Amino acid sequence: MGGNWKMQITRLGEAERIAENIAAAIENVSSVEVFIAPSFNALNSVGLTITKTKLKLAGQNMHYHEKGAFTGEISVLSLIEAGCEYVILGHSERRRIFGEKDDTINQKVLLAINHGLKPVLCIGETAEERANGRTAEVNQSQLAGSLRNVSAQQLQNVIIAYEPVWAIDNKFLNPNIEIKPATPEQASEAHMIVRDWIRKHYGQESAANIPIIYGGSMKEKNATELLTIEDIDGGLVGGASLSAEAFVPIIRSAEKLAKGEDKFEWDSNTLRFNE
Ligand code: 13P
Repeated sequence: MGGNWKMQITRLGEAERIAENIAAAIENVSSVEVFIAPSFNALNSVGLTITKTKLKLAGQNMHYHEKGAFTGEISVLSLIEAGCEYVILGHSERRRIFGEKDDTINQKVLLAINHGLKPVLCIGETAEERANGRTAEVNQSQLAGSLRNVSAQQLQNVIIAYEPVWAIDNKFLNPNIEIKPATPEQASEAHMIVRDWIRKHYGQESAANIPIIYGGSMKEKNATELLTIEDIDGGLVGGASLSAEAFVPIIRSAEKLAKGEDKFEWDSNTLRFNE
């Protein structure tokens, strides 16, 4: 489970406080790995705040060179020094607002892996692409472009985040549509497309092992029905990760499901829990 804080928490003290609260609340979580991705300026101090806790740290982006004259960018080495274990790469906000392309995302993925940082590679189609029947094609092409020259062994350190752009709670990405989370059926279908692509290009073992997580308006109220889906291995949460009150119940849902504590069944399109 990842919390992508985007550019939402602008004060250091607030970032530290939220991180501390999340870390305290997940002390007894044992079956789910949790990370948060604060703004770059907060990485060092949040990293210090959460050392010796179960909460992990992630960067929201990085440059594809290790170091150099790249104004406004951040180096993989800085992320590692701050204590990051993960880095979110190719987020739709990077792709669609800042024009990032698969070939640079691919260089970043390779650089992160070579430095022992785990990429959380984001992919996803827009509302228009989906309406035009291009969902599979767009996601497959982003996978092919972003994972070029990534070996099966290297893939063991990669997490894929399927984030349909139309489900991301972001008016800049989605100016003209009503933003809604993917339905379980839509999410399930897309995750199957991603896993099938991995199977075709990397084989059954890689497909079975790679975590494919869902992002896009995940909240407490829809987390369980999404996380129950066989091909959904976790979530990348934006808005609902900005406080422990909103994020921790989602993590608890994931923990319960991972431990098989919730007994549930599908009744047509409704998820029913047995007492
Ligand atoms: P929201 O959960 O705010 O829709 O954001 C999802 C996301 O983009 C996570 O990376």
